[in-house]
Amino acid sequence: MLKDTYKRALKDLRISVTDRCNYRCAYCMPFDEYVWIEKQEILSFEEITRLAAVFIRLGVEKIRLTGGEPLVRKDLDKLIAKLSALPGLKDLCLTTNGSLLGEQAAPLRAAGLKRINVSIDTLDPDKFKRMTKRGDLGKVLEGLFAAKSQGLNPIKINAVIERGVNDGDILDLVEFAREHGFAMRFIEYMDVGNSNDWKSGTMVSKDEILETIGARYPLRQTGREGNSAPSVDYTFEDGGGDLGVIASVTEPFCFNCTRGRLTADGKLVTCLFSEDGHDLKSLLRNGATDEDIEGVIRAIWTRRTDRYSDERLAAMHSEQGYQPADHKKIEMIRLGG
Ligand SMILES: C[S@@+](CC[C@H](N)C(=O)[O-])C[C@H]1O[C@@H](n2cnc3c(N)ncnc32)[C@H](O)[C@@H]1O
Ligand code: SF4
Repeated sequence: MLKDTYKRALKDLRISVTDRCNYRCAYCMPFDEYVWIEKQEILSFEEITRLAAVFIRLGVEKIRLTGGEPLVRKDLDKLIAKLSALPGLKDLCLTTNGSLLGEQAAPLRAAGLKRINVSIDTLDPDKFKRMTKRGDLGKVLEGLFAAKSQGLNPIKINAVIERGVNDGDILDLVEFAREHGFAMRFIEYMDVGNSNDWKSGTMVSKDEILETIGARYPLRQTGREGNSAPSVDYTFEDGGGDLGVIASVTEPFCFNCTRGRLTADGKLVTCLFSEDGHDLKSLLRNGATDEDIEGVIRAIWTRRTDRYSDERLAAMHSEQGYQPADHKKIEMIRLGG
């Protein structure tokens, strides 16, 4: 099996299908100095599927489509159908802001999508609009329930918690999810990209999130799915479902990170905080065989040394502290959150 320098396999692939998005969440989206990837540089569905098949041969079992906002890519259900048909793929999922899910839940389900993550940081419509700069919470909830009525299961709700912004919304989100059979995934606010002005003080830690929830709804830890999932999972003691917390800042999981990322313009990126990726698109477009591409991916993965979140935590505890601006990173919309 393909392993990197820390003996981590390549088991998951996140594919950004577009860097474009109809929202402008401040914690994610760069406003200044961002040049959109040109249309002809974006991988076609055929190119994505061909690369996905090579990755599966190398050990990838799970693919998540993301972006940018994946549902702004026209006919995404056609890509879902192609990927669902790939032999050896055990799990295919999608992370979306939900704004276009109302109209797309049925075709996505028909194409073979079984589960989904929808990002909702607050249930207050005004705050939702402020956080996304333009989002309509009503439309997202419509999409969420359309996904439920199409039988997508599980449906997870991703919420990034930012101090002073939506830390007071944690219990509302938990109660909403419990009532409707969704599973919350709380995410520690991270210093992704180069423009979200992240400061450790604005991040609400996993411990704080769990304390808020546990005081009202006692929880029991059940661990990480497959031992390598980003989320540490919990079940409600009263049987009201489960939730997870992704604590890449306070409890990094680099030691077991089996994720590769494919940018919308066909670069393989080996860490969410990487400065650059490895161009696979040129290989695809210049006549390389699948075996050639497999060889290139093998060479990249076997040399992989990334452990950025571990290093960030060490820097945060050091005398100098951690300076996000010292590290140039690929924008999250490009490499897929
Ligand atoms: C980059 S988005 C792409 C998919 C889709 N547009 C969405 O919002 O779900 C994927 C996930 O990354 C999360 N995310 C974005 N910026 C983040 C940050 N600075 N820290 C933690 N999570 C972040 C989003 O909340 C979302 O759940
Ligand atoms: S988090 Fe998702 S919805 Fe928000 S700006 Fe980033 S890509 Fe768009």
